[in-house]
Amino acid sequence: MIVKLSMKLKLFAVLALAGLLSACMSTSPQLGPDASAWSDYLSWYKVTPQAETGDPTGFLGSVHDGRNAFRQIYVNSLGQGVNQGTQNLPYPEGTILVKESFNNEAALEARRSPDLTLMIKLASGESPETGDWEYVMGADGTRRGTGDSGLGAFCRDCHLFAAGHDYNFINSAFYDKNR
Ligand code: HEC
Repeated sequence: MIVKLSMKLKLFAVLALAGLLSACMSTSPQLGPDASAWSDYLSWYKVTPQAETGDPTGFLGSVHDGRNAFRQIYVNSLGQGVNQGTQNLPYPEGTILVKESFNNEAALEARRSPDLTLMIKLASGESPETGDWEYVMGADGTRRGTGDSGLGAFCRDCHLFAAGHDYNFINSAFYDKNR
């Protein structure tokens, strides 16, 4: 109970900060591939059997467009084995996870302007501060967060709750546990 409460408080602090910092959060130089690397993500393996809504992990708060959003996650061929049970975590270098967030169900059905957030697995040691993940905001790939950048720290500080699963909240391990 106490542990849960302190996590909630921590999350609250993260969210309060997000509100204050989002306008001026510092980004970092690009380390992973250009946006062309995920232009065909709709043909990738879909990690979420159906769109997620609400807060299935309990860690969402108001990010990723909040509880009312409908969210889908895709993984490229390098990382898909982890979600098909043929490969163990951690995800291999070059893995790209794309997360679409639609404002509501109607937007999902019409595929209307999803917000994209991404995680790109870098080479070991490239960004230890972020678990060697490059966090990306937006389909165009211009806003990247690694190292001690504000954006990298913002994403990392919450994804840290899933550090035991290579900073990933939703993957096959999550579904196995909650089946
Ligand atoms: C306050 C917590 C929080 C913050 C901050 C956050 N995320 Fe997430 N993220 C989540 C949760 C929870 C999920 C699980 C999916 C869901 O519930 O929709 C998730 C899922 C993801 C996924 C799919 C892989 C996975 O872990 O399930 C990607 C990609 C992602 N987030 C990228 C980002 C990026 C990029 C940022 C920073 C711009 C960010 N996240 C900031 C909580 C957070």
